[in-house]
Amino acid sequence: MSMRVLLIGGGGREHALGWKLVQSPRVTEIMSLPGNPGLAQLGSVIEGIEPTDVGAVAAFAKAQQIDLVVVGPEAPLAAGIVDALNSFGVPAFGPTRAAARLESSKTFAKQVMDRASVPTAPWGSFDQPDEAKTFLQAQTAPYVIKADGLAAGKGVLVTEDLAAGEAWIDDCLSGRFGDERVLIEAFLAGPELSIFAVCDGTDAVLLDPARDYKRLRNDDRGPNTGGMGAFSPVDDLPPGIMEFTLDQVVRPVLSAMAEDGSPYIGFLYVGYVLTSEGPSVLEFNCRLGDPETQVVLPRLETDLLDLIEAALAGDIRKSRVDWSPETAVNVVLAAEGYPEAPVTGTRLSRLERAEDVIIFHGGTNYDDAGQVVTSGGRVLSVVAIDRTADDARARCYRAVDKLRWPGMQYRSDIAR
Ligand code: GLY
Repeated sequence: MSMRVLLIGGGGREHALGWKLVQSPRVTEIMSLPGNPGLAQLGSVIEGIEPTDVGAVAAFAKAQQIDLVVVGPEAPLAAGIVDALNSFGVPAFGPTRAAARLESSKTFAKQVMDRASVPTAPWGSFDQPDEAKTFLQAQTAPYVIKADGLAAGKGVLVTEDLAAGEAWIDDCLSGRFGDERVLIEAFLAGPELSIFAVCDGTDAVLLDPARDYKRLRNDDRGPNTGGMGAFSPVDDLPPGIMEFTLDQVVRPVLSAMAEDGSPYIGFLYVGYVLTSEGPSVLEFNCRLGDPETQVVLPRLETDLLDLIEAALAGDIRKSRVDWSPETAVNVVLAAEGYPEAPVTGTRLSRLERAEDVIIFHGGTNYDDAGQVVTSGGRVLSVVAIDRTADDARARCYRAVDKLRWPGMQYRSDIAR
């Protein structure tokens, strides 16, 4: 059956999802909402509807007789976009609002982890400042304090300073991040690792892991970002981590969610800290990672539509997932001023010069003259795929050199 697909989102992750989906022989049309100039090369982009206006998105998808909606970012999922689409009879891939609480409420995620016996740091959750501060004072530094809800990566404080931690509790409970609950947990030391699962409500298959670089500058210096680059595959995985993830984390969590009446269907992002005592889950996200998706999907040889349809049919366990043995490297080109205040409106005029790489658009838009300009922090993902990591990295950075614009920021140590 031919398929008309609507993709929700407009970042580098969604451009990579669209790029992969149009390779399916059954996808005849792809629309994106809101999309970006990269996605506009694959199909029409829909303007004038906010992805979080879930009723409007559902009415649009119904009117357009869309066969499948694939949702990239967390905000529309947390707002209930899948519930709205399903109520209009439109098939949609992603968790319902209740299931997306695995990302949209850190307290809910911890409760599910405890019920599913998933290893995670000891925690406490509070809506009263005095109780939260008493709990904090009994912890040892560094203190980890998180706003409970979605905060676009800005709701977490890790500090050695108890007074700063107490002030952060007041900030979180004042509703600064849109909710009035705070989570305090023990600090976990060790490298991070993210693994993605495609879940059908009771079972899952895992995607090949990628390593992300969160800090703005080389050697993990500078402020935290959404991710400045990634590579896949990762060759220093702890032994048995994939089996552990499926058997000790993903499947037990799916069982707990199903028992709860909120079966989880969609991509699930498992974020670990690899401690000296073993892997410990730091967080779940109800979506794929960005910029990890941009290196995972180019290596995926299986048709992504087949995986999504198998998950929607509750039949993922029979799916084979095949991978290219090559390495993919993604260097993110960020706008001047990112992450605090990205400069928008800078023209990107040399995109055609970067040959033999894939360029996924993230923070781009058109200006009044129809030129592609910067419109957000993480502007482009430059992805090279080659036989070895060295070859892919060298090819990627040759392309980066050709794409420079004034103020462009990037890390030169991705996959080094
Ligand atoms: N790269 C981290 C994230 O997508 O949350």
